[in-house]
Amino acid sequence: MTNPLFDLSGRVALVTGGGRGLGFGMAKALAQAGATVVINDLDAARVEGAMRTLAEAGLAAETAFFDLTDPAAVAAGVREVESRVGPIHILLNNAGIQRRHPFVEFPEEDWQAVIDLNLTAPFRVAKEVAKGMIARRAGKIINVASINAIVTRPTIPAYTASKGGIMLLTKSMAVEWAQHNIQANAIAPGYYDTEMTKALVENREFSEWVTGRVPAHRWGRPEDLGGTVVFLASDASNFVNGQLIVVDGGLTCSM
Ligand SMILES: NC(=O)c1ccc[n+]([C@@H]2O[C@H](COP(=O)([O-])OP(=O)(O)OC[C@H]3O[C@@H](n4cnc5c(N)ncnc54)[C@H](O)[C@@H]3O)[C@@H](O)[C@H]2O)c1
Repeated sequence: MTNPLFDLSGRVALVTGGGRGLGFGMAKALAQAGATVVINDLDAARVEGAMRTLAEAGLAAETAFFDLTDPAAVAAGVREVESRVGPIHILLNNAGIQRRHPFVEFPEEDWQAVIDLNLTAPFRVAKEVAKGMIARRAGKIINVASINAIVTRPTIPAYTASKGGIMLLTKSMAVEWAQHNIQANAIAPGYYDTEMTKALVENREFSEWVTGRVPAHRWGRPEDLGGTVVFLASDASNFVNGQLIVVDGGLTCSM
């Protein structure tokens, strides 16, 4: 029998950028715990693939196509999801991008694109979704940060700044909305094998560095985040607020 603490039956979860990768993996875990998952993305083919995989596993889901970088689209998208599917109880701010350039050559437009999707979009979506959560006095917000919120490597200054920012944005949400029975926490994945990291996975030297450096000696897989996201979305974490939970196979605790 499932522990009721982790039961998400009857709860609507909006997952941004859930068409593939870590977002899709976490959406599947939320659906397996009973949530009605709404997969937001921009890419229709990705979302169709995601829906097919969920259907094959006997899991139902809804879709919501809106661009997270467009404030008007986000406000309208959140309203549309709440009227079509139901009040959003769980928000998983997952969508993100990476851009790599040497610091002194980093183009302003790439800096802006990374900050806009990785940091401003979670602020924007949470602002819209929290209005309903505050009125209903219930909500779980989970922001996807990265180990780059706490440690970094060369060529990713915008990504690092965005992920450090989201860690503290999470704390801002937690302290302001705890009084309304909303918990906001962040997950910090280490190195995971997804489309975003394809170039790194396929780079033999880098991949060997990861598997040598990570105490678990492997890349993470999207399903490795399932337990953490269900915990943070469920009643099991009702007194956990403003935290960053690192899921990195031990990478950041080893020298
Ligand atoms: N892969 C890793 O190793 C890793 C490690 C740490 C953190 N993360 C973080 O996890 C999250 C997911 O990463 P991933 O590896 O699954 O990436 P991914 O590129 O595989 O998936 C991101 C999804 O977001 C969607 N998206 C992009 N822009 C959008 C927009 N404007 N509106 C709506 N959807 C949009 C894309 O279509 C895509 O389906 C990101 O925030 C990333 O920074 C990833």
